[in-house]
Amino acid sequence: MQELNSKINIIRGLLERKALSKAEAQKLLGLDDKNFSALFELSLDLSEGVKNVLVCGGAGFIGSNFVRHMLEAHPSYKIVNFDKLTYAGNLENLRDIEKNPNYTFVQGDITDLEQLNKTIQDHNITHVINFAAETHVDRSIHGGSKEFVMTNSLGVQMILDAVKMNNIEKFVNVSTDEVYGALELESEDMFREDTPIMPNMPYAAAKAGGDLMCNAYWKTHGTPVVVTHCSNNYGPYQFPEKLIPFFIFKLINDEKVPVYGDGLNVRDWIHVRDHASALDLLLHKGEPGEVYNIGSDNERNNMEVTRLMLKLLGKDESSIEYVTDRPGHDRRYAIDASKIFSLGWKPVYTREKFEEGLKETVDWYLANTEWVEALRKKKDEMNNWQESYFKNNKK
Ligand SMILES: NC(=O)c1ccc[n+]([C@@H]2O[C@H](COP(=O)([O-])OP(=O)(O)OC[C@H]3O[C@@H](n4cnc5c(N)ncnc54)[C@H](O)[C@@H]3O)[C@@H](O)[C@H]2O)c1
Repeated sequence: MQELNSKINIIRGLLERKALSKAEAQKLLGLDDKNFSALFELSLDLSEGVKNVLVCGGAGFIGSNFVRHMLEAHPSYKIVNFDKLTYAGNLENLRDIEKNPNYTFVQGDITDLEQLNKTIQDHNITHVINFAAETHVDRSIHGGSKEFVMTNSLGVQMILDAVKMNNIEKFVNVSTDEVYGALELESEDMFREDTPIMPNMPYAAAKAGGDLMCNAYWKTHGTPVVVTHCSNNYGPYQFPEKLIPFFIFKLINDEKVPVYGDGLNVRDWIHVRDHASALDLLLHKGEPGEVYNIGSDNERNNMEVTRLMLKLLGKDESSIEYVTDRPGHDRRYAIDASKIFSLGWKPVYTREKFEEGLKETVDWYLANTEWVEALRKKKDEMNNWQESYFKNNKK
């Protein structure tokens, strides 16, 4: 322990005096890359002040990847995962870190202000980040949108109240590029932070409601909130109703994959671990009252993504089945992320590395059959209505 403390002190001294480069410090301490970067992060945490972070919706896809990222990147922080565990919440996503002494799970609903306040006070929370949402666009279209408004709009307002009442240092509300509406396929326009909010789907409109509340609390009360708009995520632990895992599941089972309309709709794909590192940066360096777009400059149409998956899983185009387009299907999303790039953030999985990231994702699903099987048991909630929708809408 004493040895660790003295190493931390050396690094902190070096940092403050800018006496040595990181590479020179690593050589001096005789540490490999992994140990050096862990020690380096720890020394940064100690010099900036340890944080107790409330992660709302941490049992879902992006939230669970974020929790894992934070425990690795900031070994001294306390992370409290506050999640209602809807059909999309899955504690199996966090099985490997559940015994980490710096991690706590609380089952709770973000629309319940009393429960939010109690959790914040019990755990001496300093920072809040919100992933909790109803997220499946098709459900918001075909299954009713009340729950979407409750969680995505009212839930955010409850968190804002809790943040304000408990003098939280910073709140990051994780939102989506879908609030901007759609871009023309032929245009070269991109969503910028000042692009008007014009959502076309109930899911996106409910998310926009939460975002507008954040802006209003900042302007009215000075509540220190940062809003993010990210593009489509892919990676491990995604609930298999979303495009990439849904297709992987189908192809593994020798079933056809349903492609909406002409398959030319464009999305800007980002690896979930890159999204997590961007949010980590904004939790620390994001300016309260500001909005940040997050994306990897990786526009692909659905056919391109589908063909890549067919290739990775050894299938051909006979595995595709075209279905009637989704009502109000936005044609193209593209993110201008220059604002967060200017803070020094860089994605690891750039456009050039998309196929590599997709391959790792496919391999992850193939290697984690227990996780996949547990979800298959939830099949009723997962795909019953989705399956019958695609069956009835074959072209
Ligand atoms: N998936 C994407 O591609 C993407 C892209 C951009 C932004 N986002 C945003 O990121 C966030 C997380 O998305 P995801 O894909 O991980 O979602 P997800 O559906 O996988 O997870 C949502 C989580 O929120 C929890 N939850 C739902 N209602 C709750 C409530 N009332 N109280 C507490 N917890 C509740 C669920 O149990 C689940 O664990 C969402 O806000 C979404 O809008 C997602």
